[in-house]
Parts: sequence; C-alpha cells; structure tokens
Amino acid sequence: MSDLRMGIGVHSPITALLAEEAGAEVLWLGSLEMSTSRGVPDREVLEPHEVAEIIRSVRAVTALPIYVDADTGRGSDELAVLATKLYEEAGADAICVEDNLFPKRNSLDDRFGGRELLDPEAFAGRISAMVDARRSLRIIARTEALVAGHEADAAVERLRRYAAAGADALFAQANRASADQLLPVVKEIAPLRPMVLAPTVLPDTDARAFAEYGPVTVLFANVVMRSLVAQTSRVLREVMSSRRLTSVSSELVGVERLFELTEQGRVPGRGPGSGARASHGQENGAATAADEPAPLGASTADAGAERGTRAVAETPTDREWARSLMTESAFDYCAGGAGDESGMRRNVERLDAIRLTPRALRDVSERSTTTELFGRPLAAPILVTPMGLQALCHPDAEVATAAAAHSLGLGFTLSMFSSRPVEDVAPAAPGLWQQLYLLREREVSWSMLRRAEEAGASAVVCTVDVPVVGRRSRDARNRFSRFDAAPPAIVRDPSFLGLLEHRRRRTPSLTAADFLSDVFPDPAVDWADLANLRSRTSLPLVVKGILHPADAKRAVDAGVDAIQVSTHGGRQSDRHVASVDALPAVLSAVGDRVPVLFDSGVRSGAHIASVLSLGASAVLVGRPVLWGLASGGRDGAANALTSLLTELDHTMALLGASNVTDLGAELIGSWEQT
Ligand SMILES: Cc1cc2nc3c(=O)[nH]c(=O)nc-3n(C[C@H](O)[C@H](O)[C@H](O)COP(=O)(O)O)c2cc1C
Repeated sequence: MSDLRMGIGVHSPITALLAEEAGAEVLWLGSLEMSTSRGVPDREVLEPHEVAEIIRSVRAVTALPIYVDADTGRGSDELAVLATKLYEEAGADAICVEDNLFPKRNSLDDRFGGRELLDPEAFAGRISAMVDARRSLRIIARTEALVAGHEADAAVERLRRYAAAGADALFAQANRASADQLLPVVKEIAPLRPMVLAPTVLPDTDARAFAEYGPVTVLFANVVMRSLVAQTSRVLREVMSSRRLTSVSSELVGVERLFELTEQGRVPGRGPGSGARASHGQENGAATAADEPAPLGASTADAGAERGTRAVAETPTDREWARSLMTESAFDYCAGGAGDESGMRRNVERLDAIRLTPRALRDVSERSTTTELFGRPLAAPILVTPMGLQALCHPDAEVATAAAAHSLGLGFTLSMFSSRPVEDVAPAAPGLWQQLYLLREREVSWSMLRRAEEAGASAVVCTVDVPVVGRRSRDARNRFSRFDAAPPAIVRDPSFLGLLEHRRRRTPSLTAADFLSDVFPDPAVDWADLANLRSRTSLPLVVKGILHPADAKRAVDAGVDAIQVSTHGGRQSDRHVASVDALPAVLSAVGDRVPVLFDSGVRSGAHIASVLSLGASAVLVGRPVLWGLASGGRDGAANALTSLLTELDHTMALLGASNVTDLGAELIGSWEQT
C-alpha cells in the first residue's frame, strides 16, 4: 500500500501533456519553472493575472489536479486572497503559499546569505484569509524554516500552526542534500495532514521513502525546465556550428509526434483534456448536457464553469482531487467494486445509454423540482444514500454530508456503519433516514433502531443485499480491513458493548472490529426477519437492494413503505443486472402501491431525469457525494449535490418539463445497446 502521489513541475500546456503522458498524477505550476519560461527571475515578478493565464492554458488540455505556487502571496494578505480567487476561477485545484518574506528568494538560491521568515502568527492570518476566500480550492501552506537554518522542531511547530489556521496540506522545503533534514518533519506532520514535498536537493532519494508516514505528494519541480535548457542548448549550438541537422536528428522527435501530442490535448472525445472540458463545459452560462462535449479549444475557465454550478456531479477532476487527498486504500475502498468491477461500471453505462425525447413548445419559464416523500417536503427527489465509514474521506464525516444535504432541502440516509453516531448527525439533518442491517446479534440492530427513533429519524432503511460481503479485489490487494481502518460509531452502542464484554469473557483478546465482523453480515436473514423489523417500528420502512420484481411484490405485501432498487453500487457482485435495467420490472410489479426509489450509478442530473422518467419516485446519490466530502467537507459535498440539482433543473427545461411530475415514460426515447 502506498500513500505516494507523484507530481511534475510544468509551465505550459505542452509540458503538462508530456508530464501527464509520463504518468504524473499532479501538475505543479512552480514559480521557478513558470518565471524561467517567461525569462524573468524567480522573485515574484509574475503578476497574478499572468499566472492565471498559464493555469487556464494548462487546464484546457488536462483534467489532472493542478497545484499552483503563489510564493508569499506577494507579501500581503490582500494579494494572497486575490490570487486565491483568480487561480480557483482559472481552474486550479490547489494554491501553495509560503512563509518567506516578499519578494521571495528561491530556496535553492543561497547567493545572498541568510534569510528572515514571516512571523508564524502573521502567516497563519494570511492562510485564514485565503481559506475564507476560496470556494473549494485547497490551500497548501509551505514553510521555509529549514531553509532559513531552523531546526526540524521549529518547522514542525510552524506547520502545526498553519494546519490550525485551516491549511489543507502542508509543505516543508529543505536545502540540505541529506534526508536527515527533511524526514524528521515528515515523520511528525504526515500522519496529521497530507504533505507536499519538492525534494530537489535529494536527487538520490526514492520518493516512496517520504510516504512511509502518511499521504505525501512528491513534486519533481524544475526537472522539465532543467532538461529543456540542457537539451535545447546543446542541440541549438550543434545546429548553429554545423549549419545542418544531421548530427542532432537522433535527438529530435519527428513532427508527427507534435501533431499527435496536440491532437491528444485538444480534440474533444480524445485524450485526457477532453474529458475535463466535456464534463465542465457550459454554454451561454447554462450547463450543457452531460454527454455534450464543450466547444473545441474551450477551457474550463473560458467556459465560465464554476464548481457550484457545473454540469456533472462526478467529474474526473473531483474524483482525482478526492483521491489525491485520501490514502490509497481509503480511496479504493470507496471507489472499488466487486470482482472485475464490471457490475459497478455497468450501472453508469446503462444510465448513460438512455436517450430522452423532449416535448416542445411548453412554457418552462417557471420550473420546480420539489416533491414530497412520506409526507415530508424535498427540494428535489434526491437523497444521499447510506454510505458507511465516511471518516475515511473527511474528519467531519456524516455530519458534513448530512448538513450539506439538509442545507439544500435534500434527504440524507445515515448508514448503520457511520463514523459518527446518530445523536451527532441528526441535528445536522433533522428527520434523516436511518439504514440498518439485521446483524447476527439482532439486539444490536434493535438498539440502533431505538436510538435513531429517539434522535428523530423519519424513516428506516433495511438493506437486504448483503448476505455475504462482496469480494472486492482492491481491498484484498491493499489488505484493507475497513473496521480496523475507521472504527464505526456502532462499536460504542451500549448493546454492542454489552455483548462484546460478554464475549470477551471467553475470548479476552477479541477486538471490537473482530466482533463486528463476526456479527455482520448474517446470511440467514429472511422474510420473517423483515416482518419482525416491520412490527418493531411505526416509521416508514424502505427495503434497499431489491432487483427482482417478485421480491419487490413480496416486500410490499410484507408491509414495507418503499422499495429501493440498488446493486449496492456494484460492490456486491460483478454479475448482477445493472440497477437501471432492473427498475422497469420492479416498477411494474409494484404499481402505485408504494414509491420505488433508485440508486447505483447516478452521476448527473440527466441520469436523475432519466430515472424519474422511467417512473422512480426519488434517486439516491452515492460516490459523487463522497468525492465532494473528501475534497471540501460540507462545502464540497454541497457542491456535488448542487451540481446535480442544477443539471436536473436544466435537463427538465430541455425536456419541456416544468415539474418533476412532468417527467414520464413518454420522454424515454430509446435505450441504446451497450
Ligand atoms: C463507501 C461506501 C460505503 C457504503 N456503505 C453502505 C452501507 O453502510 N449501507 C448500505 O446500505 N449501503 C452502503 N453503500 C451502498 C450505497 O448505499 C449505494 O447503494 C451505492 O453507493 C450506489 O452506487 P454509486 O455510489 O456508484 O451510485 C456504500 C457505498 C459506498 C461507496
């Protein structure tokens, strides 16, 4: 398992393409690289507007995360805030600011003797101002303490202070050619916050050495420029002296290679950059449909895309950005599916395959997405589906996702294996739904039910598609044990603790995680258990994980109040039917006796419009919310949900639907073979 991400310093679209082609996971727009490319010294000579221009040009060709060097923020909080806003708007994913004095001197430039640093409190204030100014841009705080001759302790102290001021990632720069200078800082800091390093002075150190203590992004800064200067200077001198190309031709690529590189970056539908543009693209200020490529050559920023209003909830950038902030095994746990993962992919592909036929000449100037479920109003038929262990994504976990959903008037379902207990989460989303599994020790399930009812839950969701846990190859490869990695709040449930205590009399070494794995899942759960649960609560009961129409009918006969069609996001089996392919038969079997809800594979508002047109009453959203959560806590999760709302509204207008009730079978045009 590795917590290493590798980044390359670039300064232009072509160098970004080369870095991406070489396998870079992050692009670093470093100031030495950028200023050298413009022929000016690395002394904060470039204006923020010039840097924003570089960001835009790079964003136009790639979906990779872009981290931008803002040096000292030109020595003022006000200008640091300006850079934060400009760079975010231009398409950057993170901005790095350092505690040097303005105008900064490159950390490797020791021509002028000792250096002073900004007072840590003053720098912490600058970070806070930047945190307040950003929407979802990440703030990387860099200390030059080691370069200024301070000991590791001083660097650690500064970084801790910067973390407290709200920095999302921490960067320590070194200037000695010995890992002993940097590693003590990494050891202390990496377990606390993701780190960013640019160990130019340690050319012989394998980057993996830095990632032993926590997530680290290692930036190979200035390699591009140094290689460019070395190669170009040699080749040009040779050409000038021999007045021909013969002796250098082996060092030149053919011109076809240039055609190929630029094609890769600029033609929609091909190459990495096209994905970024297609998914962020907007036209005339309105979101384009999910599968419509943006105009040729437009960049995300050119197209005016904003995180809060962009078209598609799960863009490659969001997913990759979340990935860059999570440990590899945590990301894999959330992103992974069962077996060869084709079931997980099929969920999305089959939703993508639906073509809608719009109605014309309907006045859609006034539109409403509102609806109600179990007598409670919703701003749109969208809820967050239950997903356990959200602390793997962000320390605020379910409190953040619940608050995000509630702030937008959307529903929220709390997993039985949530990181935070229902008593903490319910105040953030009054009337949330509680998901339950029926554990081998049923008492624990009933205890969780009681606590949810007391906390004000307004519905109960019983998940029935986990008789055994799916085989998830990523988790096996990472040796990831989910309950050890992020103990869920259920291990502090009084009933759970009582039983654990009892079992420990026989097996003193039994851990809470082991005990939980013993009681979950229970392959013996059957219809009698569902009836038992039904008899224990008067709250509306949703049964989640139904794919077969006969099961749907039987569940309704057993008195459930809604069916949730789901493949558990392809996490259980790679052979199951795609969730949306199971939906029509379930809808026919259920008729209008109870609402049919849907999850698995929903990535855009267009997907939601399709599912509602097929006849589902509401849609539950999964992974896109986790990527938002990982990227920006509550705000990040709210951004992901806002994207869905915005695109649902836009798609409705395009279909001639003023209300969600106007979305019906007549709009389903064709369903392409995949
Ligand atoms: C990380 C993760 C954890 C999940 N935990 C639960 C859970 O505790 N209970 C449950 O019923 N479903 C759980 N699910 C399944 C989701 O409720 C939902 O069915 C699935 O995420 C839908 O697929 P999608 O995210 O690809 O749209 C989980 C899904 C993910 C990705």
